[in-house]
Amino acid sequence: MTLGTIRKSLAFIGIFLFIQVQATDADEGVNGRVWYRIVKGNENNNFRINPSTGLVMRGSRPLDRERNSSHVLEVEAYNSEQGPMRSSVRVIVYVEDVNDEVPVFTQRQYNRVGLRETAGIGTSVAVVRATDRDTGNGGLVSYKILSGSEGKFEIDESTGLITTIDYLDYETKTSYLMNISATDQAPPNNQGFCSVYVSLLNELDEAVQFSNATYEAVIMENIPMGSEVLRVQARSIDNLNQITYKFDPNTSPQALSLFKINGVTGVITVKGLVDREKGDLYILTVVADDGGPKVDSTVVTITVLDENDNSPQFDITSDSAVSVPEDCAVGKRIALVLARDPDAGSNGQVTFSLISGNIGHVFEIHTTNNTYGEVFVAKPLDRELLDRYTLRIQASDNGVPPRKNDHILRVNILDVNDNPPVIENLFGYNISVNENVGGGTSVVQVQATDRDIGLNSVLSYYITQGNEDLTFRMDRITGEIATRPSPPDRERQEFYRLVVTVEDEGNPSLSTRKCLWS
Ligand SMILES: *[C@@H]1O[C@H](CO)[C@@H](O)[C@H](O)[C@H]1NC(C)=O
Ligand SMILES: *[C@@H]1O[C@H](CO)[C@@H](O)[C@H](O)[C@H]1NC(C)=O
Ligand SMILES: *[C@@H]1O[C@H](CO)[C@@H](O)[C@H](O)[C@H]1NC(C)=O
Ligand SMILES: *[C@@H]1O[C@H](CO)[C@@H](O)[C@H](O)[C@H]1NC(C)=O
Ligand SMILES: *[C@@H]1O[C@H](CO)[C@@H](O)[C@H](O)[C@H]1NC(C)=O
Repeated sequence: MTLGTIRKSLAFIGIFLFIQVQATDADEGVNGRVWYRIVKGNENNNFRINPSTGLVMRGSRPLDRERNSSHVLEVEAYNSEQGPMRSSVRVIVYVEDVNDEVPVFTQRQYNRVGLRETAGIGTSVAVVRATDRDTGNGGLVSYKILSGSEGKFEIDESTGLITTIDYLDYETKTSYLMNISATDQAPPNNQGFCSVYVSLLNELDEAVQFSNATYEAVIMENIPMGSEVLRVQARSIDNLNQITYKFDPNTSPQALSLFKINGVTGVITVKGLVDREKGDLYILTVVADDGGPKVDSTVVTITVLDENDNSPQFDITSDSAVSVPEDCAVGKRIALVLARDPDAGSNGQVTFSLISGNIGHVFEIHTTNNTYGEVFVAKPLDRELLDRYTLRIQASDNGVPPRKNDHILRVNILDVNDNPPVIENLFGYNISVNENVGGGTSVVQVQATDRDIGLNSVLSYYITQGNEDLTFRMDRITGEIATRPSPPDRERQEFYRLVVTVEDEGNPSLSTRKCLWS
C-alpha cells in the first residue's frame, strides 16, 4: 500500500503527477508486461492513471477540498485482460486546502429598522456573519465597514457586531446604508460583501421653540369678547406630536380672567371686559408643549389703549355750597371743585365751565392742572339784588367726543350793611298839632325801611334836633312821635323843626336824618 498526497491548484491542472504505483512481475516477455488501472473510487473521474507506468494523475476536473477532502482509490496491476495474474493496492489521496473560497454572508442585506435616535454610544445595531469554507486563515473572516457609516458606526472585525460610536440624530439623517466586507485572512484575501440598512426612530428629543422670543400686541379697551389679540406659534423639528399651547399657571389672575388661548392654534382672544383703567399692560406667559421633555415658553405683552369711556367724576371734596359776603372783592376765589377722569391723555383732561345759573355773569371758573375748577367773583355782588345763585358747573374731558358731568354749586350771598335806612316820606313830614292836647297824643309815625337784612335792617328812631324843650318824645322802635305830659303851647312856640335820625343795628351802623315840621 502506498500513500500519496495531491495538492489541488489551478496551476497544476492537467499535468500534475504525484504518485507512481509500481508492480513487479517475475515473468519474462509478454507475460512479464504489467498494466495499471483504477478499479474503484474514481466515480467522478477526479483521477487518471498511465496504464503502462502506473502514474496516477489528477483528472481534468478540479478537485475541491470543500466537497471531498480525501479520496480512496483502488489501483490494480495486471498482465492481461483475462489473465489471472493481478494485484491491487489502496491509494488514499488527501486533498490539501487552498484559499479558494469567498466569504459568504448569511444575508445579502441586514436591516435594523427603528433604531432609537437617542440611543447612546455603544448601542448594538446588528450582527453580520459571513462563512468561508476554507480552513485555517483562509476560512477566517475579518469584517470591515467600507462605506456608509458616516462616522456613526463601527464593526467588530471578528464578531461582526455593529455598534454606534457617535450620537445619532433623526433630524440630521434618518437612515444609513453601509457596505460591509468580510475578508478572509490568507492570500488572496477573498472578499464578500453585504449591506446593512439602519433606519432611525424619530423621538421627542428636539426642543419646542416659539417663532418669536417675545410677542407684543396693542388692543383698544372695551374690545369685544372673542376678538383675536394675536397668535403665537411654536414648532419642534421632531414634528411628531401636535404642539399644545397654554398659559403658564403663574400668569397673573387678572390676565387669565381677560384672555384665553386656543390650545391647538395658539390664538389668544379676549374673554373678559378689558378696562384700561383697571390695567393697561398685561404680561402672559405661554407654554408650548409637544409631549417631549423640552418645552418652551414665551412672554406675550398686551398693551391696552385708552378709549374715552370714563366721564369726569367730581370729587366729594368739591365745594357744593358756599356763602359769600356781598362786598366780596372782584377776583376773589370763592369755591374749588375737583374732578378726575381716569382715561389717558386728552381723554382724561378735564375742563370746567359754568353752564347755567350764573345770572349777570358775576362768577367765572378757571381750570387748573386739568383737574381743579376755581370759581372766582367776576363782578360786584349785591345781595339786595340777588341773594343766592345755583351754579351748574360742567366738567368736560377733551376726548372726541368729550364726556361730561355736572355739579351744582350753591352760592349764598351774605348781607353786608351797605344800605342806609330810607325814610318813606321823601320830603319829610309837615304836621299840625293842636296846642294843649293831652300828653301821649300821637303826632306822627315816621316810617323808614332798610334793604339790608338782619341787624342791618333793625332800625332805631331818634329825635336828634329841635326837641330841646322835650315837648315830644319818640318811640325808638316804632318811630311814633307823641306829646309829652306838658303839651305844646302855641303861644310859647308855634313851630318845631324836628330832625329825626333813623339808625340800623349794623356794625358799623348806617343812619339817615330827616327834618320834620310840626
Ligand atoms: C469522497 O471520497 C470517498 C472515497 O473515494 C468516497 O467514498 C466519498 O463518497 C466521496 N464523497 C463525496 C462527497 O464525493
Ligand atoms: C461594496 O463595495 C465593494 C467594493 O468597493 C463593491 O464591489 C460592492 O459593489 C459594494 N456593494 C454595494 C452593495 O454597494
Ligand atoms: C415676531 O417677530 C417679528 C420679527 O421681530 C415681528 O415682526 C412680529 O411682529 C413679531 N410677532 C408678534 C406677534 O409679536
Ligand atoms: C398745578 O400744578 C402745579 C405744578 O405741578 C402746582 O404748583 C399747583 O399747585 C397745581 N395747582 C393746583 C390748583 O393744585
Ligand atoms: C306846611 O304847611 C303850612 C300850612 O299848609 C304851610 O304854610 C307851610 O309852608 C308848609 N311848610 C312846608 C315846609 O311845606
